[in-house]
Amino acid sequence: MRIGILTGGGDCPGLNAVIRAVVRKGVGEHGDDIIGFRDGWRGVMEADSVPLDLAAVRGLLPRGGTVLGTSRTNPYALDDGADRILAALDRLGIDGLVPIGGEDTLGVAGRLADAGVRVVGVPKTIDNDLDATDYTFGFDTAVGVAMEAIDRLHTTGDSHHRALVVEVMGRHAGWIALHAGMAGGANVILIPEHPFDVDAVVRHVEHRFASGFSPIIVVSEGAQATDGDLVLATGQKDAFGHVRLGGMGPALAALIEERTGRESRAVVLGHVQRGGTPSPFDRVLATRFGLAAVDALHAGETGVMVALRGTDIVRVPLSVATAKLKLVPPERYAEAEVFFG
Ligand code: F6P
Repeated sequence: MRIGILTGGGDCPGLNAVIRAVVRKGVGEHGDDIIGFRDGWRGVMEADSVPLDLAAVRGLLPRGGTVLGTSRTNPYALDDGADRILAALDRLGIDGLVPIGGEDTLGVAGRLADAGVRVVGVPKTIDNDLDATDYTFGFDTAVGVAMEAIDRLHTTGDSHHRALVVEVMGRHAGWIALHAGMAGGANVILIPEHPFDVDAVVRHVEHRFASGFSPIIVVSEGAQATDGDLVLATGQKDAFGHVRLGGMGPALAALIEERTGRESRAVVLGHVQRGGTPSPFDRVLATRFGLAAVDALHAGETGVMVALRGTDIVRVPLSVATAKLKLVPPERYAEAEVFFG
């Protein structure tokens, strides 16, 4: 079989581990030819590809980012994007495609499957917001990075008697904020799914100072106040129409300082959450996803995504996985609220 593989959307730790697993299983067990496309759907549209043999994937397991490069190219935002993809796949003799991505990349994958391309998707995103899988790889690493930052901020915050606001990624889902905040013992966690009351945040901050310690407030980039608008650093949008988030951390720190009279600073973790080596959990999950994607293609599947259910890797329709985002349910947020203040 001749299998094409691509990585689309924001990079995340574990992408190279999937690429390695696809090649090791495809070449090693089935004698497949594996072709890597550069920079997501752009590379497929332009037939910009590189052969991936066993030597090409040596040493990839712990390496962050993606050796194939990535982009947020949306072929369906172009008049002839899908036709160019079909023509390129035909010209290169690709029998099956393994797109590794989040809701956008896999949304394109689903449409291509409907157009007759044999596609098995692999879910990735640090945001953990893809539905139909318990976890995406990349999330655990991002949470680890954010938790370590929070641990460090506790000691410097206490020393200077300041409030520290930590802005984390996650777009419209609060999973990173929730898990990093719980793991790091944050005093307030603010997520997009639960608009926050500024007065309540101020009360928690003052309560924490009154106990002799300094508060750490973890805020998701997509969180917003009940009576406010989304804070945006820029008005820019990507090819899938997503607005670029960012700026809530500094805005909230300024508000807390104004309302409490206590010095408040913001730390925006940004892309540091996406870079570097994957955690053990993400290495194993990414590897199992890659193996399962090759199995699914050889089983004749198409229009599916490999997914984690409990400890099993299963196949779910791409249409189900991309129909809606997986958001933090209220009961999970209620667990975190026990520790506020
Ligand atoms: O989807 C992953 C993610 O890191 C989001 O958490 C964040 O909003 C977005 O990508 C940032 O994208 P970019 O790196 O293109 O600005």
